[in-house]
Amino acid sequence: MTNQSNNYQAWNDALADFPHNALITEQLSFLLRYAVLAPSTLNSQPWHFIVHEHTVLVQPDLSRWEEATDLSQRQMYISIGAAIENFIIAASYFGLSVSTSLSPFDNGLFSVLLVCEQSHGKMTALAPLCHAISSRSTHRGLYRSEEISPSLLRRICEISYDTSIHIIRDRRQRLIVGDIMLESGMTAFSFSSLRRGISRYKRSNLTRDHIGIPGNTMGFSLIKSFVAPLAIRLFNVVRLNYKQQKDMLRSHTPYFVVLSAKTDTCIDWINTGRTYQRISLVSESLGIRSSVWASPIEMDNGRRRLADLLSVSKPQLCMRLGYGTAYPHRSPRFPADAVTDIII
Ligand SMILES: Cc1cc2nc3c(=O)[nH]c(=O)nc-3n(C[C@H](O)[C@H](O)[C@H](O)COP(=O)(O)O)c2cc1C
Repeated sequence: MTNQSNNYQAWNDALADFPHNALITEQLSFLLRYAVLAPSTLNSQPWHFIVHEHTVLVQPDLSRWEEATDLSQRQMYISIGAAIENFIIAASYFGLSVSTSLSPFDNGLFSVLLVCEQSHGKMTALAPLCHAISSRSTHRGLYRSEEISPSLLRRICEISYDTSIHIIRDRRQRLIVGDIMLESGMTAFSFSSLRRGISRYKRSNLTRDHIGIPGNTMGFSLIKSFVAPLAIRLFNVVRLNYKQQKDMLRSHTPYFVVLSAKTDTCIDWINTGRTYQRISLVSESLGIRSSVWASPIEMDNGRRRLADLLSVSKPQLCMRLGYGTAYPHRSPRFPADAVTDIII
């Protein structure tokens, strides 16, 4: 992997033809091309796959877990949940059904076993979302104030995978959620260890790396994209950009979405990731954009305020939702075969 275009090749890989007549291990390896396009915290892609006969074992890759920003490993598992959801949607689209089970892995970690079999033509209702997997990306820009129709919002609410979905439209509540996001962002960025952790994943627009967040996905010019990693390491950039961020959250975020669970276990986090990915794919297929803010959940005070506001037990993920004003840039990926072992 030496030239820049290769670190974006994974987005094209998913568009190849499904190998209908190949061995099941080849088919499962193909489906992992969809899994790796999932969103992940800091674009760390903290997953590793082992394909054996008709199964895929999904393991966390601790070398891509950033402790400073994700002490509990919640975000790592949410990312893994999103990758699993992509895999299951693509499997259904190409004629396979998948059952999942959690199994202990190492050092208190968990992996997820996916057992796949022919579905004999039965597709799940979510299978058509397969088309949205390679067009989705996180949209961190301004959203128009345009309303999303009640029937679309209902559709988004109906696709939960064992997770509560709160869509916040009411102006008073939106202002409160926006303030919680901003204040927890400023608190998070006041910790130098967190700033260092995040800056390790910031990349220039010309990056050749397969992980990390290029500046253009945040709307940065080329020069700003080179300066950003250092600036993020040294300064509280949320505080420095307070006015701009406040304007984005107050005037350019027509909807917030909060996902929550009753408890705070690895299963809740994986389910949250699956629900998040369903929402982002349904939204994408309807022309609606989404983005995530981790800080309101990771900062205790923000999480408590969100829980009180919505009368929920354990908020897990906070999203912005709305019609976007511009098409966002993509971020790079490791190709599926670089993160997969096949056991013959
Ligand atoms: C658990 C989780 C937490 C995330 N937190 C943030 C965040 O706080 N701020 C942000 O801008 N993006 C956040 N993201 C989005 C990722 O940065 C994004 O998915 C990644 O850079 C890959 O880009 P893509 O989604 O456009 O493919 C988060 C994603 C996940 C799965």
